[in-house]
Amino acid sequence: MRVLVTGGTGYIGSHTVLCLLEAGHQVVVLDNLVNSSQESLVRVRELTGKPVSFHHVDLLDEPAVDGVFGAYEADGGIDAVIHFAGLKAVGESVHQPLRYYHNNVTGTINLLRVMDARGVRTLVFSSSATVYGDRNPTPYIEKMDIGANNPYGRTKEQIEDILSDVGAADSRWHIALLRYFNPVGAHPSGRIGEDPMGIPNNLVPFIAQVAVGRREKLMVFGGDYDTPDGTALRDYIHVMDLSEGHVAAVDHVAKREGVFRWNLGSGIGSSVFDVLHAFERAVGHPLPYEVAARRAGDLPAFWADPSSALADLGWSTTKTLDEMCEDHWRWQKNNPAGYAPAE
Ligand code: NAD
Ligand code: UFG
Repeated sequence: MRVLVTGGTGYIGSHTVLCLLEAGHQVVVLDNLVNSSQESLVRVRELTGKPVSFHHVDLLDEPAVDGVFGAYEADGGIDAVIHFAGLKAVGESVHQPLRYYHNNVTGTINLLRVMDARGVRTLVFSSSATVYGDRNPTPYIEKMDIGANNPYGRTKEQIEDILSDVGAADSRWHIALLRYFNPVGAHPSGRIGEDPMGIPNNLVPFIAQVAVGRREKLMVFGGDYDTPDGTALRDYIHVMDLSEGHVAAVDHVAKREGVFRWNLGSGIGSSVFDVLHAFERAVGHPLPYEVAARRAGDLPAFWADPSSALADLGWSTTKTLDEMCEDHWRWQKNNPAGYAPAE
């Protein structure tokens, strides 16, 4: 298939582009580079020895999005879209809700309008475990009622609703809604990985920057949760496993009409200290930390029930927390400033 990957220069997108190429698909990337660098695709081409075309386009520019589809029309067209493009910082979304709704929701509507007009109706969408909100017991299962508790999460929930309505209105659509848990790690080569701008919000990128000397110490947000070691539990998933989940999902829905929801997680809850100690094993020495107050809005514990993805897609995670940290550390150590040129 020829697959268009929106947000394909970003963290999960670039790893998925690599997995799609290795699975024999042709790949076209669309990204506005608001949170990523084209260097990721340079490295994906190096790693795979395969071409990837890139379009510097914003999803808010609907004619430009249409132009990308049009560019391939004479050569068989685009068969499917994997849609990663979006803004993703929960805290920022609280302060800039209109920017988040406009970018994520309007951007998706533009994409869907172009896809419909061009007759491309196979879509895999990046949703998030955050749609389960704070009312569901763990582990999360797909049939639970959803209800996010922050603007970023609500953009994901609204897009899920839009896609459900689109699929209900026209049975020619093939749609996968993938709810990711906590993606970490990097390609085992250490050539591509997560390159957060500014101070990382997420645990593993923050620990990695402590390990490489860019930050003084980890602040552990909350040591008094009702969990085995007092710190919060999350379901960490290696970005390579997550990317393989996208290949499995696009292959599956290409052959199956309807709207489907799958959790992509390991089913295992790991604490902040579990992650810190796994990272220390990867680095080979202890890392400085301090236990601080809980972070506003954080839940004590959640993880996936990943059994639907196994039953329907034949997909499950394969990599351990130690492998996630080893691969994340290799990327960070070899690229202390991410994709930016060394100073
Ligand atoms: P990322 O920021 O690395 O990638 C997103 C990409 O989208 C970036 O390259 C950015 O430049 C691009 N983009 C944003 N708005 C755009 C627009 N209007 N037009 C074109 N390109 C645009 O993030 P990621 O971690 O790779 O996440 C990918 C997707 O997965 C996002 O939709 C995110 O919400 C979702 N997700 C991420 C996580 C996580 O923890 N990383 C968890 C659950 C869901
Ligand atoms: N944490 C720290 N110190 C830090 C950063 C995080 O102790 O410096 C803790 C958090 O308090 C939390 C755990 O580490 O207990 C994981 O935090 P992350 O920020 O890495 O991940 P979250 O589970 O809070 O959120 C992530 C994504 C969201 C997504 C959610 C569910 O950032 O976008 O997973 O998929 F919605």
